[in-house]
Amino acid sequence: MNILIINGPNLNLLGKREPGVYGDNSLEEIQREILEKAKEIGTEVDFFQSNHEGAIIDALHEAMDAYDGVVMNAGAYTHYSYAIRDAIAAVKIPVVEVHMSNVSARDEFRHTSVIAPVCAGTIAGFGKNSYILGLIAAVDIISKKQK
Ligand code: DQA
Repeated sequence: MNILIINGPNLNLLGKREPGVYGDNSLEEIQREILEKAKEIGTEVDFFQSNHEGAIIDALHEAMDAYDGVVMNAGAYTHYSYAIRDAIAAVKIPVVEVHMSNVSARDEFRHTSVIAPVCAGTIAGFGKNSYILGLIAAVDIISKKQK
């Protein structure tokens, strides 16, 4: 099993960006923890981060033939990118939406996810553990599909 972890805009600044909201760990540190968990549960993972909508869409398209599923934190694109939503709907692999913060408890504009209806499910509010929970959810969905 092979899963792609996609991070969208501003998540390259984790550790420096609003640490009160997103914590002190850098994206690299979080990715290391995801990798450890992936080894433990027996799946391969790769990582992709971009601040550009089109690059995220390209990564989703390429993931269709190369991965069994995607765990994605689309950052602020979550709230308004119909293009990313359409890309998720187009690819035939499950995409698990994750957010570090509890978006429902934050600004009004963060309460809407335009990608949620085309994702397999959403995990939000558990800090860096949102990625781990997202990975576990993705592995679960994929292994059920493979039966
Ligand atoms: C986020 C929440 C989004 O609203 C925000 O724009 C982000 C990060 C999160 O992980 O909590 O960039 O996706």
